[in-house]
Parts: sequence; C-alpha cells; structure tokens
Amino acid sequence: MLGSEPEVLIDIQDLWKRYGKHEVLKGLNLQIYKGETLVILGRSGVGKSVLLRQIIGIEKPDKGAVLIEGKNIATLPGAKRDRMLRRMGMLFQGAALFDSLTVGQNVGFYLTQNPDPLTGKWVDKNALKERVGEALSTVGLVEVGDKMPSELSGGMRKRAGLARLVLYRPEILLYDEPTTGLDPVTAMQINNMINSIQAKLKATSIVVTHDIKSALSVGDRFAFHHEGKILFVGNREQFLSSKDPLVQAFLHEAALTEEQLTR
Ligand SMILES: Nc1ncnc2c1ncn2[C@@H]1O[C@H](COP(=O)(O)OP(=O)(O)OP(=O)(O)O)[C@@H](O)[C@H]1O
Ligand SMILES: [Mg+2]
Repeated sequence: MLGSEPEVLIDIQDLWKRYGKHEVLKGLNLQIYKGETLVILGRSGVGKSVLLRQIIGIEKPDKGAVLIEGKNIATLPGAKRDRMLRRMGMLFQGAALFDSLTVGQNVGFYLTQNPDPLTGKWVDKNALKERVGEALSTVGLVEVGDKMPSELSGGMRKRAGLARLVLYRPEILLYDEPTTGLDPVTAMQINNMINSIQAKLKATSIVVTHDIKSALSVGDRFAFHHEGKILFVGNREQFLSSKDPLVQAFLHEAALTEEQLTR
C-alpha cells in the first residue's frame, strides 16, 4: 500500500523524442511511486511503447531525462547502467519467445546467459531447474515446460513470457499490452497474475494497456497519454470522475467497446 508520502522511484522529466519529422514525445512528465502499479492509457500510436523503451533505456531521448532513484538512465556509465537495467524487466507486446527452445528453456534463458542479478553469482543447473519450475508454477504452466512455444495458445504464451520475467525477480516491471488479443477469461487470469507478481516481488509496475477492465483490475494510479504528454494522472476515483473531456471520451469509448465485445 502507498503511504501518505509516496517515494518517487522513476521521475520522467520533460521527455522529448522524435523519429524524422514525427515528434512523438513532446515534453512528457510523469512520476512513478515505489511499490505502485501505474497504468498508462492512451490511443493507438500515441507513443506508449516509445515511452516504455525510454524507461528501460533501449532508446535515448532527444531532450529531458528518465531518472531512476535520481540517476539518469541514458547517461549512467556502462557498468552502473547495466546494474540498473538488470533491476527491470519488460513483457513485450508479442511475448517474444524463442521458437527453437522449449518453454522451460525460454523461461530459464536469462540465467543461462547472465549471473543472478540479485546475488551476482551464476546459478547452477539444478538450482536453475528449480527456479524455472517455480516461475512456471507462478503462472500455472508447470505441465508445459517441455513443450515448444508453437504448441501454446496465445494466453499460455503470454504466461510463459511472464514466467521468464519473474525468473530473475526484477524490482521494476513493465508490461506492454499484456491482455491484448486475449479472451476475457484469459485476460482476467493475466490481470490476477500481474497483481500476484507485484505482491510477491514487492515490485513497482507500469502497465500500458487499451483494456479498461484490465487497467481497473491492476492499477493504483492511471495516467492518460495524449499527443506526446501526460494529460491526466490520478488515482481510481479521480480517473473515473475526471471532467477532462478527452479522458471522458476515452472512458466512454472503452466502455462501449467492452459492451460490444461481450455481446
Ligand atoms: N523506431 C521508430 N521509428 C520511426 N517511428 C517510430 C518508431 N517507433 C515508433 N514510431 C512511431 O511513433 C509513434 C508511436 O508509436 P508507439 O508504438 O509508441 O505507439 P503506441 O501508443 O504504443 O501504439 P499502440 O497502442 O498501437 O501499441 C507511431 O506513430 C510510430 O509509428
Ligand atoms: Mg504500443
């Protein structure tokens, strides 16, 4: 739970990013508190995935900064930056599993290539097997560890992606559209997993989604991304009762779409 004085873990300051002539982020400001789940909402193409890539330092801003515990992720020297990045994990939009590896090998892959970020030590074969089993059980996939990704349904692939993420116990979790393309029951399973992973890892999470139901089942706070800036940020009550016409239009449209989908 959030105390009365939330601690800012990630501070995004006046972030600008363009591709050619296309200005995507236009002076975006946003603070993410330690221990919360912040949901980022916004229309398709507004720059939500671009923002996530800036936060995990895959891309650098043209101007402005992403500060994590006060340190600028883009300008930290190599080793310090790597250490910071290892504390973060992202579930990409398409789950991005390696097709030639089994599900279990996919889940354990990181720790076959890197030492455990928490201890700095390499994990031996037996311990790794145990870690993979534990991660698979967190997402209810123990029985499919030996299968190939092509044998899994879309929802199972997302869960395998989640298992791969929890394996190295990141403190900062980023989810890009974790429920898109899933049926409502599977989507709700993923939402529950996002919540249980958050509690288990005592993590801070950022969830980008179009799915208003998903947003409301995982979010502590809600940020509305519009035309390169965060137009609104607030808790659930403030979000649902926002008088901002763009937020209202978004909520209205989302509700309509949900209704149409479940009809
Ligand atoms: N590497 C890139 N090169 C050129 N343009 C890019 C690049 N990455 C993103 N863009 C452009 O930036 C804009 C924002 O893209 P982004 O993928 O962040 O949108 P989004 O909000 O995540 O959309 P969606 O909800 O559909 O996933 C788009 O117009 C996209 O074409
Ligand atoms: Mg996107």
